[in-house]
Amino acid sequence: MAGINDAEFCNRQKASLVILGGFNADKGAMEAAKAAVARGRKEFVFEDPLEGIENELKKVKKNFAVNVRSSTMDGYTEAAELTDCYGGIIEINAHCRQPEFVQAKCGEWLLFNPEVLYEIVERVSKIATTAVKLRGGYGIDYEKLCVKLFERGCSIVHIDAMIPNGNCDLYLIKRISKHGFTIGNNSFVDIKSGERVIGAGAKMVSAARATLKDKNFFEKMLESDILSEPVEL
Ligand SMILES: Cc1cc2nc3c(=O)[nH]c(=O)nc-3n(C[C@H](O)[C@H](O)[C@H](O)COP(=O)(O)O)c2cc1C
Repeated sequence: MAGINDAEFCNRQKASLVILGGFNADKGAMEAAKAAVARGRKEFVFEDPLEGIENELKKVKKNFAVNVRSSTMDGYTEAAELTDCYGGIIEINAHCRQPEFVQAKCGEWLLFNPEVLYEIVERVSKIATTAVKLRGGYGIDYEKLCVKLFERGCSIVHIDAMIPNGNCDLYLIKRISKHGFTIGNNSFVDIKSGERVIGAGAKMVSAARATLKDKNFFEKMLESDILSEPVEL
């Protein structure tokens, strides 16, 4: 969660994997973030994008990934080098739909320009373990997209399986999970909803908004045998 998921927030979560960011790895993405902040959105704004990311990586004490937006290949590769040095996973953000980022060729722009996304994944996965965060809910062939992402070096697909009217598209998670390691996301608010995502085939389930409502969210979810089962990548 941009503007929220810094190292301090993540260190407080009793989760097996925390995902920092979204961070902006180059000037184009950072300018987009500043424009989003100007209209009231929360974003991480750092004077020097990579220095700002590194300061967070120095503080994180858990297994972590870093969700990154960039308008250039260099932003992704430099963020990947940094992330790898600190033992983390880089997560390419192909999810953000805020217009400033889409105009800067970041976030979900990549969903509609998959060749660019594949190229990023191929380059970045040679540097660090790579995840891709996708937004569901569009008329895209997600299975085909994910097969190609896995072929090009992606280790994890993290799918926000949103259904435009709310709730989680379990069938989408089921179809994607057949092809590789999948983290299912959207509307994980209690043990039942989390177990449904794992039941659909995801290896892990992630939560964003629920952690804002309850600071002990993950602790409570770990009472479930299914949700506390160890996973290996
Ligand atoms: C305040 C806020 C900021 C978010 N920022 C990001 C982001 O920077 N990168 C990203 O991939 N997803 C971002 N998301 C999306 C969430 O990670 C998640 O995919 C979405 O909220 C659905 O999951 P949930 O039902 O558990 O909240 C954000 C969500 C919220 C509520």
